[in-house]
Amino acid sequence: MAFPVTRMRRLRATPALRDLVRETTLAAGDLLLPLFVHEQDGRAAIPAMPQVERLSVDEAVVEARDCRRLGVAGVVLFGIPVVKDAEGSQAWAADGVVQRAIAAIKDAVPGLLVVADLCLCEYTDHGHCGVLRADAAGSSTVDNDATLPLLVRAAVAQARAGADIVAPSDMMDGRVGAIRAGLDDAGFPDTPIMAYSSKFASAFYGPFREAAGSAPSDGDRRGYQLDAANGDEAVRESLLDAQEGADILMVKPALAYLDVIWRVKQASRMPVCAYNVSGEYAMVKAAAAAGHLDERAVVLETLTAIRRAGADIVITYHAKDAASWLQ
Ligand code: PBG
Repeated sequence: MAFPVTRMRRLRATPALRDLVRETTLAAGDLLLPLFVHEQDGRAAIPAMPQVERLSVDEAVVEARDCRRLGVAGVVLFGIPVVKDAEGSQAWAADGVVQRAIAAIKDAVPGLLVVADLCLCEYTDHGHCGVLRADAAGSSTVDNDATLPLLVRAAVAQARAGADIVAPSDMMDGRVGAIRAGLDDAGFPDTPIMAYSSKFASAFYGPFREAAGSAPSDGDRRGYQLDAANGDEAVRESLLDAQEGADILMVKPALAYLDVIWRVKQASRMPVCAYNVSGEYAMVKAAAAAGHLDERAVVLETLTAIRRAGADIVITYHAKDAASWLQ
């Protein structure tokens, strides 16, 4: 039935009617806040990311308490060690900075979910997400199969420290299966894996690499992260991770990949997380600081859109602000 019988504006007439027919919800409990934990004391600013700081373990606990108070579901931890080496051994050191932060937060704020990002790039001196080997032409490449046991060691160390979820972000083939088997063998069959399944080689990670000191010293990550042009391949990656035992799938970045979020959700019917990454945050903060847009309205619209695209969970640097605006 068309106009004038049908008038779409009828259900938009008042706030109460709009609330009644709203299709997508956004709540603090859908959100995870990334935290960067360094080995120095106190906090250090990250120029491209206003209000996001590198934190000591103690300061990370302060942030975790804030998250709990605001109803944010959890935190995602990234470690920034002082000592980096070719293999990234601080990723699995029992007293590594992330392991200490996991334990401290679980001890102080037990009800808050602690997700451990699982990758080697913050821990290797060359900044790649795995170990390097020289290829036939003499240049270096990330050795997929040699990296898997190192990721397993890091996953077990994180689970042992008390992580509620481990989240591999390295994009090596076969890592989810290897990590699942490794966790099971080590006595952690109930630790879920949230796999960064569709992680694209993206220019939107620039501010993160500055924050984590994890930019590759030479080359780029195109040999292991997805090509921005490929949606079918992202669905395939996601379904493979599901087969290998992933419990939650992730799409990253979020805003330029809303179609991928939708497709992964439709194809998998699994819990899907989307990562609203550092470059997306930096753009909003810069435009808001310049007075070009209304930060609160833009952030809430963006997070709602990511949820509408099919994300059950959103990792976002805006988590605390959004949670306080939603109260
Ligand atoms: C580690 C990792 C990265 C991000 C999350 N985990 C960076 C990268 O792959 O270079 C990016 C997050 C962000 O930009 O907010 N591999």
